[in-house]
Amino acid sequence: MRAVICRAWGGPETLTIDDLATPTTGPGQVMIDVHAAGVNFADILMVAGQYQEKPQLPFVPGLEVAGTVRAIGQGVKRLSPRQRVMAVLDHGGFAEQAVARESDVFPIPDDMDFATAAGFPIAYGTAYGALRWRAGLRPGELLLVTGAAGGVGLSAVEVGKALGATVIAGASGVDKLALAAARGADHVIDYRVEDLRGRLKDIAQKLGKPGIEVAFDPVGGDTFDALFRTVAWGGRVVVIGFAGGRVQQIPANILLVKNASALGFWWGSYRKHASELLAPAFAELIGWWSQGLLKPHVSHRLPLGETAEALKSLKERRATGKLVLTLKE
Ligand SMILES: NC(=O)c1ccc[n+]([C@@H]2O[C@H](COP(=O)([O-])OP(=O)(O)OC[C@H]3O[C@@H](n4cnc5c(N)ncnc54)[C@H](OP(=O)(O)O)[C@@H]3O)[C@@H](O)[C@H]2O)c1
Repeated sequence: MRAVICRAWGGPETLTIDDLATPTTGPGQVMIDVHAAGVNFADILMVAGQYQEKPQLPFVPGLEVAGTVRAIGQGVKRLSPRQRVMAVLDHGGFAEQAVARESDVFPIPDDMDFATAAGFPIAYGTAYGALRWRAGLRPGELLLVTGAAGGVGLSAVEVGKALGATVIAGASGVDKLALAAARGADHVIDYRVEDLRGRLKDIAQKLGKPGIEVAFDPVGGDTFDALFRTVAWGGRVVVIGFAGGRVQQIPANILLVKNASALGFWWGSYRKHASELLAPAFAELIGWWSQGLLKPHVSHRLPLGETAEALKSLKERRATGKLVLTLKE
């Protein structure tokens, strides 16, 4: 099979494409003919050796795929060959075949295309888990989403609206803000040119709110520092990632005075620690998708041979929503 290979830690340009032996399917595993693979910021970190999980070199990157089941291992009960599925992987998705654990594979509706499905699980899974399980977002609460036109950010705007929140989207540039507004954001802030802290205070005040009640922050660094000073009494800030490049420190004095919570959230770790939560979450998300509440946005579809270019687009903030590698129609 053709696969993208990472042989040394580095930038996207170090990746090569080669022929590899097709992987085998062990007990409890499912082999998928990959039609499309979702590209994530985490792939950049993993290829650079900077992700929280560091595979042994050489490895095939790629954390999520959609395709058809090619074979099932011993003991697999929920899935059968030729079924259309999406799946999450430790890595190995940027290849013509990928092997996943049964608990990480979810059927997709007949009318969801493979490119949409490939970009679905991590972005929507993260948005859902962070807002529902971790922050306990309630209808009517004021939710801030940063990086709101990115993969997880845009999904968090939609999931926030589906859960009944008033959503403020922070992003850079008019096009990104327009996209977040089209997906339901009630207020938008261009934090590249506007003062984030000042605008958040203004919006909260106009709505008669004491501040931001929940924040979903995949950007971190200065953006986190600014938003954290606008948190309402009892507010919850979910730390999703550090796309801005700096891991922030959390001021405990603000936590104390505001009775606030800073919550860490890593969706991938639920696959190991609470995998029973995943299937019901995807069932609800797919239900929302069927009702038109979620409208997955794929800004770029590129062939496997352009994986490095795909990763560079994310790194340079050129992509919106999801970026997907397409291998087969
Ligand atoms: N905790 C979890 O379970 C989980 C799951 C998935 C992803 N993540 C993390 O969430 C973050 C976003 O992931 P993603 O896949 O959604 O990535 P993405 O699509 O590239 O989105 C990242 C967004 O961050 C913003 N950003 C701000 N500063 C940036 C910079 N210096 N470089 C690049 N982007 C910058 C960009 O929006 P603007 O240009 O509008 O600022 C961009 O849209 C990453 O840190 C990732 O590791 C965490």
